[in-house]
Amino acid sequence: MNTLHLTDSPDDIRTAADFLRQGLLVAIPTETVYGLAADARNADAVAAIFEAKGRPQDNPLIVHIGQPDQLSPLVTQVSPTAQALIDAFWPGPLTLIFPRSNAVAPNVSGGLSTLAVRFPVHPVARRIINESGCPLAAPSANRSGSPSPTTAAHVAHDLDGRIAAIVDGGACEVGVESTVVDVTGTVPRILRPGRVTAEMIRKVAGAVEVDDAVTKPLREGAVAASPGMKYKHYAPAARVILLDGSPEQIAAYVNAHAGDGVWALCFDGEQEELRVPTLTYGRRDDDTAQAEHVFDALRRADEVGARVLYTSCPARDGVGLAVYNRLLRAAAFEVISLEE
Ligand code: TXA
Ligand code: MG
Repeated sequence: MNTLHLTDSPDDIRTAADFLRQGLLVAIPTETVYGLAADARNADAVAAIFEAKGRPQDNPLIVHIGQPDQLSPLVTQVSPTAQALIDAFWPGPLTLIFPRSNAVAPNVSGGLSTLAVRFPVHPVARRIINESGCPLAAPSANRSGSPSPTTAAHVAHDLDGRIAAIVDGGACEVGVESTVVDVTGTVPRILRPGRVTAEMIRKVAGAVEVDDAVTKPLREGAVAASPGMKYKHYAPAARVILLDGSPEQIAAYVNAHAGDGVWALCFDGEQEELRVPTLTYGRRDDDTAQAEHVFDALRRADEVGARVLYTSCPARDGVGLAVYNRLLRAAAFEVISLEE
């Protein structure tokens, strides 16, 4: 298949919307990462998403809406807590899990009785959704297992030839996927951390829980609240090893393990003491910048041919928790604590 490379011009947006109405797949920019979109009401189009990504069928997709009133037909209940979070954070990088109606194809949520819905703030995403008139099922537009795409070039690298079109809306501002929150119970529960932080949710809802799977591997045989969190994920070809410690401790450890193909992914301003080649992903105290750059840095590790990537561990609060969650999976939970 020849993949069309589109811009955000009105003509190109119309082309993208036409493709989506015809049941084809189009990669679209959002404020978090690029999404691989299809008409959520069309089961064949949704099945094609799983096929193009090489994604396990039991990993459910997020439905994207372009206007607030598109939510109510998709779900059977919006709790007061859910409404408060909607009022505070939509449109934006927050996905909410509701009990589902039958408005979208069953395979969107992999047989679950719930549905993930998000109202993105990115103007190009919203124009495409509204022009198409479809609720759009859209996972991140990467091959399953790879780092999520934050530029159109990342998408092309993974999916050129497999999808109808890619709409280039520039680099994504947030850089990690939306916060996923289950609002079917009384206390909102974070299944995947993102730019809308636990602290922000607690302020609005009064309380918040963070699912164990955010920071821990799933126990053998346990059922994942968010199936996407159970796979090794976001991983470059290099073996990623997280190093938890001060800049001095990290430099000492990395320098003792220098060798062929050994690289470091460290914080900006902490390269000097390292005697291996480095990539960086934002300053130690700037979790927003870390989120913006982390996936691009993991992809760059592949481009430079890194075999081992010693990665400085981010803090676990604020947006840092989201960065930590993604890096943990890229590292298949391999963390070395250097603290005394
Ligand atoms: O920022 C984002 O959310 C991006 C952009 C494109 O919007 N999309 C994205 O989709 O990250 P995806 O499919 O890569 O991640 C969806 C996550 C997975 O972890 C999945 O398991 C979870 O949401 N999820 C989806 N439906 C769910 C449900 N009904 N219950 C629990 N978790 C669900
Ligand atoms: Mg994904």
